[in-house]
Amino acid sequence: MKNEMKLVMDAVSENEALARMTAATFLARLHPTLEELEDVKTAVSEAVTNAIIHGMPKDNKVYITCTAEKNIFAVTVEDHGIGIENVEKAMEPLFTTKPEQERSGMGFAFMEAFMDELKVTSVPGQGTVVTMEKAIGFSRYEE
Ligand SMILES: Nc1ncnc2c1ncn2[C@@H]1O[C@H](COP(=O)(O)OP(=O)(O)O)[C@@H](O)[C@H]1O
Ligand SMILES: [Mg+2]
Repeated sequence: MKNEMKLVMDAVSENEALARMTAATFLARLHPTLEELEDVKTAVSEAVTNAIIHGMPKDNKVYITCTAEKNIFAVTVEDHGIGIENVEKAMEPLFTTKPEQERSGMGFAFMEAFMDELKVTSVPGQGTVVTMEKAIGFSRYEE
């Protein structure tokens, strides 16, 4: 059985924790290890922070979808913001367009490291969709 959850929230930093905790709570039913839980929280936090800080969405919203099917957790973070000119370049470790704001340029690198799959689709002027997947506690999965 597939389970899905959607969260639409204003694109303000105060809501970053809400997104992170909501994803973590949704994930809990898959019985993740503490490490898996922390990995997902970090990845979601990075993607949502990016949507807020870099995306600057025209509708001032961030759209988050979480799904769980068997032991696979997937999360999509979407914004209708400025988009990314060169996704490949943006995903390089240490690349940041906001060095003055103490950004580390490691957001995508963390998402890639902590999740099994990372896909970034972006259209300049229209927005960005970040999709991530992670297999949770594979050996402990019960039907
Ligand atoms: N949702 C987004 N909308 C527009 N640009 C983005 C988005 N997410 C990431 N970027 C671009 O990709 C770059 C790299 O992102 P990231 O690896 O998280 O580093 P950082 O956030 O520290 O700059 C950002 O500096 C920004 O230029
Ligand atoms: Mg970032």
